[in-house]
Amino acid sequence: MDVNNLRQSLAEAGQSHVLQYLDELSESQRSHLLEEVQSLDFTELNGFFRRAMDGFSASSSQDKVDARMEAVPREVLGSATRDRELLPEWEAQGFTQIADGKVAVLLLAGGQGTRLGVSYPKGMYDVGLPSHKSLFQIQAERILKLQRLAKERHGKDCIIPWYIMTSGRTMESTHDYFQKHHYFGLEKENLILFQQGMLPAMSFEGKVLLEEKGKLSMAPDGNGGLYRALGAHGVLKDMEKRGIEYIHVYCVDNILVKVADPVFIGFCVSKEADCGAKVVEKMNPTEPVGVVCRVDGVYQVVEYSEITLATAQKRSADGRLMYNAGNIANHFFTREFLQQVVEVHEPQLQHHVAVKKIPYMDTQGSLTHPEKPNGIKMEKFVFDIFQFAKKFVVFEVLREEEFSPLKNADSQNGKDNPSTARHALLSLHHCWVLNAGGHFVDENGTHLPAIPLMQEAGDVPIQCEISPLVSYAGEGLEHYVKNKELHAPLTIDEHGIHQSVRNGL
Ligand code: UTP
Repeated sequence: MDVNNLRQSLAEAGQSHVLQYLDELSESQRSHLLEEVQSLDFTELNGFFRRAMDGFSASSSQDKVDARMEAVPREVLGSATRDRELLPEWEAQGFTQIADGKVAVLLLAGGQGTRLGVSYPKGMYDVGLPSHKSLFQIQAERILKLQRLAKERHGKDCIIPWYIMTSGRTMESTHDYFQKHHYFGLEKENLILFQQGMLPAMSFEGKVLLEEKGKLSMAPDGNGGLYRALGAHGVLKDMEKRGIEYIHVYCVDNILVKVADPVFIGFCVSKEADCGAKVVEKMNPTEPVGVVCRVDGVYQVVEYSEITLATAQKRSADGRLMYNAGNIANHFFTREFLQQVVEVHEPQLQHHVAVKKIPYMDTQGSLTHPEKPNGIKMEKFVFDIFQFAKKFVVFEVLREEEFSPLKNADSQNGKDNPSTARHALLSLHHCWVLNAGGHFVDENGTHLPAIPLMQEAGDVPIQCEISPLVSYAGEGLEHYVKNKELHAPLTIDEHGIHQSVRNGL
């Protein structure tokens, strides 16, 4: 490696300071830094920075987007509640595609999980279910179950390949975790890990920040880093080889996620959509969730900070919020659409700016923890590509059935934490048991109320967990629970039904 050449190109890009401490480093630190620096294109990086900052100042100074917004029209909207009669048809369509081997799932798992605050990938987190399954295990078992359900319907074996996007921070531990757990019953070759890109954090002046004397401050380039990574690692080629046409993309942290949901897939395929978004109803005007809508006739996600309260409060004739399509990062894409995005549109997407307090090595060589934001991280978002869709559709589902994200640690705040995720799953499974004709009774044999009392802080739902290997979405539970008096804690797994020992089981 020619250090002089490197110094020269850094000087041209105005980033010479990254080698400022080179002479103080040990041999291995030195070669690590040089390797890191050499892998980056600093001219491109400066371009990313300029465009991201331009976009950021334009969006900060611009009027809110309210006047240019339109809600999702009914003709592109499917609903799990309002289109009940069509659900079996969509589901059958989805299962046909799965059985034909045309469906893959793609997990976005390259995030750092800073708010949750654990040092390992979020997918490995155990939210404290009776089974102590991790998010990864739950998702793996849902895939396995769907493959089995598709086989039951269509009489042939099928595979749903699982593509997992990791980052420099999560790749190795994710790989080791799956290996250690024998891929949770999936075939190793159908679980494909690939790595998204990383970008350095920058000061407001566009200088790359150092985390240590011999290390740049690197962070993954956002979940929209997916599109560059798809191209860089030949993932779409692999999909093509396997005959994949439809891809379900989702985030690792939603404990209720219906991976490769046949109803959603079938809905999008029936509508001949190239891009689809699953949404939940935004419940109140100030809920901090992005909404799917059109701006100047083009679909996008508008963040809550981009509109005025008056617009957020607007209601339709049916009394629901007008802009209520809450984005849950749960998307459908055709392979062809992704191909186009990778080949044509990805380079046009500019990074979003996240203003942060970023610890950095100052010019005197001491590590500084700033009290105020001192720089930015640059990220693309997975939904940035909605604007390129030829046929975009939206599918609305129930939050209590499909969305409970794990973002925060229990100690931080009462929302989107391990307890809320655990409770959401247990409550849903409780409902499945009731819908299948089971009843819960207390130690005196008295029926427990079907609607659990959950008003008080600290109240916990009935402990009821059903393995995804037994039921994907509440189906097939009758022979375990119908007309039975059941005692919590209750679990149903591939070995049968297990209840509280007090009841002699
Ligand atoms: P979040 O934006 O919630 O980030 O990611 P996070 O990393 O999970 O948590 P914080 O913000 O650091 O606390 C939403 C989804 O996008 C993925 C995450 O893994 C998660 O599934 N993601 C995020 C990526 O795959 N890559 C990224 O660069 C960022």
